[in-house]
Amino acid sequence: MSPHEVDGPECSAVTGVDVDVWCATRTTREPVPAVRAQKLYKLFGRRADEAVRLLEQGADREAVRKLGVTPAVIDASFEVEDGEIFVVMGLSGSGKSTLLRMLNGLLRPTSGEVHIDGTRLTGLSAKALRSLRQQKVSMVFQHFALLPHRTVGENAAYGLEVQRVPKAEREERARKALDLVGLGAWADHLPTQLSGGMRQRVGLARALAAGTDVLLMDEAFSALDPLIRREMQDQLLELQSRLGKTIVFITHDLNEAMRLGDRIAMMRDGRIVQIGTAEEILQDPANDYVAQFVQDVDRSRVLTASAVMEQPVAVVGARSGPRQALRSMREHQVGAAFVVDRERRLLGAVRDDATADALRRGEESLASLLDDHEVVTVSPDTLVADLLTPSAECPVPLAVVDDENRLLGVVPRATLLAALGNGGSAESRGGDVRGEDTRRSASAAPPPESSADLEPSSRGAQLATERSAVTEVDDVEEVKP
Ligand SMILES: Nc1ncnc2c1ncn2[C@@H]1O[C@H](COP(=O)(O)OP(=O)(O)O)[C@@H](O)[C@H]1O
Ligand SMILES: [Mg+2]
Repeated sequence: MSPHEVDGPECSAVTGVDVDVWCATRTTREPVPAVRAQKLYKLFGRRADEAVRLLEQGADREAVRKLGVTPAVIDASFEVEDGEIFVVMGLSGSGKSTLLRMLNGLLRPTSGEVHIDGTRLTGLSAKALRSLRQQKVSMVFQHFALLPHRTVGENAAYGLEVQRVPKAEREERARKALDLVGLGAWADHLPTQLSGGMRQRVGLARALAAGTDVLLMDEAFSALDPLIRREMQDQLLELQSRLGKTIVFITHDLNEAMRLGDRIAMMRDGRIVQIGTAEEILQDPANDYVAQFVQDVDRSRVLTASAVMEQPVAVVGARSGPRQALRSMREHQVGAAFVVDRERRLLGAVRDDATADALRRGEESLASLLDDHEVVTVSPDTLVADLLTPSAECPVPLAVVDDENRLLGVVPRATLLAALGNGGSAESRGGDVRGEDTRRSASAAPPPESSADLEPSSRGAQLATERSAVTEVDDVEEVKP
């Protein structure tokens, strides 16, 4: 995400420090990942060391189990960058919690190393480790671990109390953290007066009050009802964008992983089998196991326009006339062409029927046709789910443009439907946290052949929805005003 440049939220998160000076120091520092795991192994059992050597030599899990050893984490390596949400995803028993506990030094690796912000954990004294944990790494658990007889405010301040932070300061920090999670008004209540979602927020506030840059969250939302869970995910994303924390988030829910993770590490039987963005994992699963895992995922909420768009192989220059535009539409068997200026900025689209009429009227420019035409533009990171309605309403493919309105690609309706079809549309599934939304938008998209807004006379226009509708010409020219 925001690798090592210094950005606003991070700087402003530092209180009591001269921000300018701090930022300047940061930019000159060697870039160091917030969290680094190197060839981590955690094996449980008396003969663990021997078993690591066997695994390193290529032995499989079963061989190791015969020694009476449980291989919980095998050869895990990854780096988490500053400000990144790194999700560790896997079925129960795949080693996620064990991995997480090694990251904050609660568990000592059987082999391998963990570095937090450049500091190697292995080899630190117990005291140094505790202090590093307090300053750098907080943990949020699934079961909120709240103290029942203490108020919400005291619970949020608990970590600071353990660190012997003076009362006034810890109350102040806890209050701010509770404000951040929307519980400012609840400081004097007891945990029992709170709903499950609210209690989980207190857990989060406790971690935030500690002021550490790294948050480790172990199935933090897994015990919550789907709707509350969704709210918590939103809140986490929102907090993350404001505070720029580095988060390692564990879940066994793929939809949650895809929604939250900048990158996702897929674990199976103690090993990380793939690390990538949600899109990378969906589009290019490393093996059959991952492919099977992601086959039911709600793609419309993961894939973006940039992942499904097609090359705008063809574009007509603004000064090409109706004849040339028609010729290129025919050549490519499409019913519309996009019109761009010299800088490839999108000016609009023209459809074959209107262009043919203009030609008949003897017009020499496309300019008058551009006005009638509504081209819908979207940005490359628009979610596919949000393309469905505009795509249904727009007779020509959606145009994907950059910040300067330059044409990057096109998304014909058929491409969109095909992208969703691959792995099953959300419609056929129920029960996941996003089913509702997606069903709604998916049903808004009629199948291509029923598009009433296409001119029935224009076979080309229909084709335009089925493939990229633009034609490259070399002489792209500036349109006359
Ligand atoms: N303290 C322990 N002693 C022995 N085996 C353990 C211990 N902790 C975890 N395991 C085993 O390690 C494997 C991974 O567990 P865990 O990390 O809790 O998985 P996850 O969090 O993905 O459900 C499991 O087989 C589990 O039984
Ligand atoms: Mg676990």
